[in-house]
Amino acid sequence: MLDKKLCELLNEQLNMELHSAYIYYEIANYYGVEGLEGFQNWFNVQTREELSHAELIKDYLIIHGVEPILTAIDAPGAKYSDHKTPLEAALNHERLVTASIYEIYDHALSKKDFGTVDFLNWFVKEQVEEENNANTLISKYDLFGTDAKGLYALDQELGARVYTPPTLTVG
Ligand code: FEO
Repeated sequence: MLDKKLCELLNEQLNMELHSAYIYYEIANYYGVEGLEGFQNWFNVQTREELSHAELIKDYLIIHGVEPILTAIDAPGAKYSDHKTPLEAALNHERLVTASIYEIYDHALSKKDFGTVDFLNWFVKEQVEEENNANTLISKYDLFGTDAKGLYALDQELGARVYTPPTLTVG
């Protein structure tokens, strides 16, 4: 049986992942309007990744007999005025997600819930990748994105990203 506080934290994380999807969906739409279809694709794939993270946590709660509580998702509501700002917003958001995962991990450890610790190990690794991806995007943008030809090439590269389902399965 899952500890009550742990259930609450996992439930909050589930909703945070849905909010993450919402944020990336908005960023994808921004780039779409800007004519950067590759950037749009990259963030559409990211949106799907976030939904898959939510799905994993939802499944984890359900197999423990806990009904997830879906809360209202705040509107992202960002207004981007240049092509780099969404990339920085993505990195800042991923840092928040990492901190949130660490908080749950810390609580699971304190309760000696090693099953949940094992489940969260995947998320810990995933967050390293997520932050690295966001950092890499900023670096590439700084290197190539301010030149029209470079931006075009980068957009082509990001257009090649495809969604791959998580390696983790629950149940
Ligand atoms: Fe689900 Fe991007 O963290």
